Amino acid sequence: MEKFYIATAIDYVNGPPHIGHAYEKIASDVIFRHYEQRGIPAFFLTGSDEHGIKIQKAASEKGISPQDFCDDIAGKFIKEWKLFDIKYSRYIRTTEAEHKRVVRHIFKTLIERGDIYKASYNGLYCTGCECFLSERELDDDGNCPSHKTKPQEVREENYFFRLSKYKERIQEHIKANPGFILPDYRANEVLNQLKDAEDISVSRSRNSVSWGIPVPDDDSQVIYVWIDALSNYLTGIGYLSNNELYEKFWPTDCHMIGKDILKFHSIYWIAILMAMEIPLPKTIVAHGWITIDQSKMSKSLGNVIAPGDILGAFGLEVPDALRYFLMTTTTFGNDGNYSDEEFKNKVNADLANNLGNLLNRSLSMLVKYFDGNVSPEAVTVAENNNLAALSDKTKREVIENMDKYQPYQAAESIINLVDSANRYINEQAPWTLAKNEETQLQCAQVLYNVLEALRYVSVLIYPYIPNIAQNMREQLGFDDRVSDFMLSDLQWGGLKPGRIASKDSVKPVFLRLDSELAGDKKKNAN
Ligand code: ME8
Ligand code: MG
Repeated sequence: MEKFYIATAIDYVNGPPHIGHAYEKIASDVIFRHYEQRGIPAFFLTGSDEHGIKIQKAASEKGISPQDFCDDIAGKFIKEWKLFDIKYSRYIRTTEAEHKRVVRHIFKTLIERGDIYKASYNGLYCTGCECFLSERELDDDGNCPSHKTKPQEVREENYFFRLSKYKERIQEHIKANPGFILPDYRANEVLNQLKDAEDISVSRSRNSVSWGIPVPDDDSQVIYVWIDALSNYLTGIGYLSNNELYEKFWPTDCHMIGKDILKFHSIYWIAILMAMEIPLPKTIVAHGWITIDQSKMSKSLGNVIAPGDILGAFGLEVPDALRYFLMTTTTFGNDGNYSDEEFKNKVNADLANNLGNLLNRSLSMLVKYFDGNVSPEAVTVAENNNLAALSDKTKREVIENMDKYQPYQAAESIINLVDSANRYINEQAPWTLAKNEETQLQCAQVLYNVLEALRYVSVLIYPYIPNIAQNMREQLGFDDRVSDFMLSDLQWGGLKPGRIASKDSVKPVFLRLDSELAGDKKKNAN
């Protein structure tokens, strides 16, 4: 692979960021950081979706202009992603002039090619989805199945995109490219939806929606949000503005999106790109949804959680614990759940007990028995050393799982290595070996093996918990950045002889969460 371009969905700014938004951005950030560790030039795009009726309404309820409203909420997203160490390359906002130019160019090109035409339309519009629904898509009560609200009857002159022209090509593309849609089982879902795909309305009358990009040469219409929103993936990588960037990174290698918007990405977006004769993305990954205490997050239930409030409630200064929890709560693609209990138990078990204690114990013993010195004789060769073999295997598994966009499985491999190192130290009992002159060397070798495995862990787990990983690396006696360390350099024997630790340098990397601090503070995100 010579480059890697990952893009998240762009979030609607009709409300502040919630934990579901964070889930997607963290997953993308983990994958992005992993590719950086492989020395592959990588680009990570995220941003906000700022046009449409929902935002127009939210702004008018607040009595401010839609632009001021968007600026305010987009600012909140940017602040949140900073708090969560989301290392995006660019944050795109659909209200940027550069983006409007791209959208109008696409619209105009499609009109010229005959793929966009004007017709009168009678349809059922769901403002929650910002799209028209067919009768068949409604539930038994005639409501939108996602939003449980009655769609509006709309009769309008609209511009239409000739989706029907592309549906067979899309079907063929999906069938010919396993892995184009992940998880695999979602591909069938899309193939089914394609069966009854019709031409889609791509504009709204300005009388019903004013907050949008005007249709080129027709001020009575604004461009419908999905064409506007999806085009961000082109604007964000320099289409029409930075040809060098665009040529280097297009097409998208990974679209990271929620399962609810798969149709828009695997059907509408692909058709638009086909019509524009632009190369298609490599993979669309549909992740599951995060529920709160097993219920769907919703404003009406009042259970919408702002991710930053969880950090606040648990007194966490870095986002690592929540990043780790979200990435390990469920196999990627399935729905996951957040609850204070599960969060606390999981990170206490994995980060404080398994990982943190092991590092702490081993370094403390190194200080106690060897004054913090790794002796040259302690450096064990990788051959005939199970922990060394397992460390290298873990590295391979992490790479394989990341290539399949499975951050959950990759994390599982890393935690397996930590578990094995724990079993190994308990079996070898270096505290007993330390007591006799004859077994001192063996004791030093056992500690070396454990610390070396933990050095592997710090590098492999860095994309998930960058701050804790950095701390681990420093405690292992390194003064460089773990983020700069390349996976290709991760070979057994990297921990060098010399004094690496002292009584003062050994500190816990993660403190158990104090349950009493966890209050109701976080429950008032909206
Ligand atoms: O759909 N758990 O914006 P959005 C996990 N603007 N992911 C969730 C979630 C949850 N509880 N709730 C939402 C939009 N998401 C459009 C996208 S892309 C060109 C335009 C995910 O703010 C959701 O699936 O409603 C989507 O991928 C992203 O958050 C933004 O959702
Ligand atoms: Mg949504």
